[in-house]
Amino acid sequence: MSDKEREQKSSNVVWHHATVTRQRREKQNSHKGAVIWITGLSGAGKSTIAHAVEERLHSMGCRTFVLDGDNVRHGLCSDLGFSDEDRSENLRRIGEVCKLFLEAGVISLTAFISPFRKDRERVRSIIPHGDFVEIYARCPLEVCEQRDVKGLYKRARAGEIKQFTGIDSPYEEPVNPELILDTHLHTLDECVDQVIEMLRMRAVLAPACPTD
Ligand code: ADX
Repeated sequence: MSDKEREQKSSNVVWHHATVTRQRREKQNSHKGAVIWITGLSGAGKSTIAHAVEERLHSMGCRTFVLDGDNVRHGLCSDLGFSDEDRSENLRRIGEVCKLFLEAGVISLTAFISPFRKDRERVRSIIPHGDFVEIYARCPLEVCEQRDVKGLYKRARAGEIKQFTGIDSPYEEPVNPELILDTHLHTLDECVDQVIEMLRMRAVLAPACPTD
């Protein structure tokens, strides 16, 4: 469904402005909200990185939440499959959820393949400038396939799973992501360090926020 077709159907609804604003929440939290959007092939390490960064941020006293493809598809997006259209809708919904988390002053970390540039750019476009941080978890398909943590590549190669990203469904690499993590070249700890460093540079984390 196009954005045009998806125009708001409900009429006579008026936005209610909260008195507890994002700014007030961020002041209380001592850090800014942000959307850390991790994209990459299945098995590239998106979820592992998201949860490890969350652990680090949590120990620093930050408010965080991880949205993970496999989990979200059990609930909010359980009606969606893996056609191009369904993936778009999956990511549109997640984008809106991230926007709400941002208003709540939370650092949300997402782990979705999000294979299409236009879908990632659409999420970026609804998030205030600078608050959307795209991280490319880069890992060669061969390595992901070798890892095959969930055994899905094997099944996709056998033709048991259709439209599998990297096999018979495309993955479009980010053109200009805020950060690239080469997950086959760096340890998990090194990847986490790089993300934390970037969040400091972007002033998401206040200098007062203690390290580990
Ligand atoms: S996305 O393309 O819409 O961003 P998402 O990240 O939610 O995908 O879900 C990907 C996860 O679903 C994979 O990690 C894998 O475990 C599982 N999966 C099942 N079928 C497929 C498929 N056809 N293509 C990719 N991932 C699949």
